[in-house]
Amino acid sequence: MNTKIEMVDEKNLNEDTIEEAAKIIREGGLVAFPTETVYGLGANALDPGAVKKIFQAKGRPQDNPLIVHIWDIKQIETLAHDVPDIAYKFMERFWPGPMTVILPKSSIIPDITSASLPSVGIRMPSNVIARELIKKSGVPIAAPSANISGRPSPTDVERCIEDLDGKVDFILGGEMCQVGVESTVIDCTVTPTCVLRPGGITLEMLREIDGEVYIDPAVMKKPDKNIKPKAPGMKYRHYAPKAPVKIVCGDLKKTIEKINEMVQNYIDENKLVGIIATDETKNFYNKGLVMSLGSRNNMPSISKNLFETLRSFDDKNVDIILSEAFEEKGIGVAIMNRLSKSAGFDITRV
Ligand code: TXA
Ligand code: MG
Repeated sequence: MNTKIEMVDEKNLNEDTIEEAAKIIREGGLVAFPTETVYGLGANALDPGAVKKIFQAKGRPQDNPLIVHIWDIKQIETLAHDVPDIAYKFMERFWPGPMTVILPKSSIIPDITSASLPSVGIRMPSNVIARELIKKSGVPIAAPSANISGRPSPTDVERCIEDLDGKVDFILGGEMCQVGVESTVIDCTVTPTCVLRPGGITLEMLREIDGEVYIDPAVMKKPDKNIKPKAPGMKYRHYAPKAPVKIVCGDLKKTIEKINEMVQNYIDENKLVGIIATDETKNFYNKGLVMSLGSRNNMPSISKNLFETLRSFDDKNVDIILSEAFEEKGIGVAIMNRLSKSAGFDITRV
């Protein structure tokens, strides 16, 4: 397939380019586009044939439901039913933005979109290109992250092209994604509301609306084959670069010591080691390839850079990646969730 790639300036939208992409969506094609979280791979959510192409392009398991993206809160009425008041409170507060709400689905959502579940995940993104694309296409857009299944989600257009060139009709390019990890998924079909995937809308923020909100305990655990996860996507090894990832967790000084010791052992085995550090710690590593995610005082920068850093270690063909850990507070919960999954929960405590 020939993929058309066009850049769009977020501050000065090229309406014709977005209309061209919207037409492809209307006609049943695939368009990759930026959102504030990660790039998405979109198709008309109401067209089973178009949605099927998403699964094929990504190599995605059919039992993993897609998020349906809207641009106007009124679209909820046609896509879901029995929407609880609390769901409206979350939507009014955090939309447009990095939050997906699971609701009982209406019959117009094809089974392939929701992987035959009785519910559907709906999100209103804030990125202007995404919003304009959804609006112009005139249909809700089903979009998983725009990566090949299992790889870290793309947070800039180059990574999106790397994974999807030749597999989709159109790639709309924008700026680097601001949040850098996928949306917070909240289940509003249960009481109290349960967080199925942590993201940019943090537990602390959700609790300002409802103090009872809790994080599904499965989020921070290694998937158990005997327990059926509430978000089917949670059971897959995710966000994984080619090299194995190992996390060292605990007191920062001891973490640095432990990582340096591990680095030396790998070097003795002739291995190329990547180290995921922070601005505060990077100078304490003098062997291996060191990359900083940013300052520990600026956790959003850490989440913004996480996937890009994992992917750039792939480019450098490292044999192993060692990472520091982060406090599971605010967006730190999402960061540690993605990092732990990319490491297959290989965590050394010091
Ligand atoms: O930020 C995001 O959410 C990005 C951008 C493109 O919007 N999209 C995204 O989609 O991350 P995806 O497909 O990579 O992840 C969707 C997650 C999966 O873990 C899936 O299992 C869960 O949401 N999910 C979707 N519908 C669900 C439902 N009805 N019930 C439970 N979990 C659901
Ligand atoms: Mg994904």
